[in-house]
Amino acid sequence: MKGIVFNELIQLIESIIGEVQTEHLLEDADLNSGGSYTSVGTYDHKEALSIVQKFSKLTQSNTDQLLISFGRHLGKVFVVKYPDFYKHKNVFFFLQSLDSYIHVSVKKLYPDAELPSFNFEMINDKEMLLTYQSVRPFAPLAQGLILETISYFGQKESLTILNSGKNENGHFALFKITQGCEVQDE
Ligand code: HEM
Repeated sequence: MKGIVFNELIQLIESIIGEVQTEHLLEDADLNSGGSYTSVGTYDHKEALSIVQKFSKLTQSNTDQLLISFGRHLGKVFVVKYPDFYKHKNVFFFLQSLDSYIHVSVKKLYPDAELPSFNFEMINDKEMLLTYQSVRPFAPLAQGLILETISYFGQKESLTILNSGKNENGHFALFKITQGCEVQDE
C-alpha cells in the first residue's frame, strides 16, 4: 500500500489521540517499516491493519468504524489533490468512472499500487449496485470513501450495504446507492 495512505491514516489518528499517543501506538504496533512512510514508497497493507487494530484497542472502538472514518478523511484529501476526477454531473457518473478510469490512472502513476476492483450496475436511473472486490479487507474503507463522495456531490443519495464477506477471490461488499427525493418547496 502506498505511503500516502499510511501518512493520511496516521494524520487522522493524531487528530484524535494526539501526536504523543500516536507515537506510542506506532511503537507498540511493532511495524517492519518502523512506522515511518514516504508518500511514494510501498509498504505491506498489513501494517495499516495493525495500526487500525492498535487504535481500536486503545480507544475501545470498532476497527470498521475507524476504517469508515478513514475513508471519509481520504475522500476529502482526494477531492483537494485530484479535483479533475470529480468533474462529473453526479455521484453515479463518478462511481462509474472509478474502476475504468480513476484507479486505472492511479495504476499508471504508481504501477505498484494495490487496488481493489469495482463493478457497477444501474438498476434504473436512481439506483446503482456497486461491488467491491479485493484481496485486502478494506470494504469499510470503500464505504467511507463512497459516503464522502456522496456528501461531495450534494448528499442526495443514501448508501446501503446489501452483503459483505469473503469469497474465492478475497473480500467483497455489495453496495446500493439510491438517489433520495429532493425536498420540494411549497
Ligand atoms: C468513492 C471513491 C473511491 C473508492 C470507493 C475507492 C476505494 C479504494 C480502496 C478500498 C482502496 C484500498 C485498497 C483495497 O481495498 O484493495 C483504494 C486504494 C487507493 N485508491 Fe481508491 N477509491 C476511490 C477513489 C479514489 C480516488 C478519487 C483516488 C485518486 C487518485 C484514489 C486513489 C487510490 C490510491 C492512491 C489507493 C492506494 C493504492 C495503494 O496503496 O497501493 N481512489 N481505493
